[in-house]
Amino acid sequence: MHKMTEKTLAEAFAGESQANTKYQLYAEMARDEGRDNIARLFEAIAYAERVHARNHLRALGRKMSAAENLQDAIDGENFEVQEMYRAYLAVAQLQEEKAAITSHRYALEAEKIHAEKFAQALQAVQEGKDIDLNDIYICPTCGHTVENAAPDRCPVCGVPGSKFRRF
Ligand SMILES: [Fe+2]
Ligand SMILES: [Fe+2]
Repeated sequence: MHKMTEKTLAEAFAGESQANTKYQLYAEMARDEGRDNIARLFEAIAYAERVHARNHLRALGRKMSAAENLQDAIDGENFEVQEMYRAYLAVAQLQEEKAAITSHRYALEAEKIHAEKFAQALQAVQEGKDIDLNDIYICPTCGHTVENAAPDRCPVCGVPGSKFRRF
């Protein structure tokens, strides 16, 4: 593929991915305001943006085996942990931006665990298996990620474990 075309697809994928997440969050906000039809409109169009994101990813022509996707995920999470969020956190601390310090710290802590989990999964695939995986619990406030059972309180942000979402 031509470099320029590849760049347009990668940028379009990033944009549609962001729109998908943004519209899902906007749907939650509309629902909190009691505007259910606006919420539904955001959800429907979020799904359409996801379809566009998938098509751009396919058009990029990457092979998409679980092993390759896991490696891509590990690389992304490790970059966030080792470089991106460390640097973002430093900026937020330098500028004494409390909300930014908190949101970067929450992400930094969770991404460490995500990188580990994906690495375990990749190892299983390389051994020709699926990963042995019990229920996964995610903190709705900070994204803290645990297997098996939710803790009494989130060790990162202190939210009660009963609020965790199970997958
Ligand atoms: Fe992550
Ligand atoms: Fe948390």
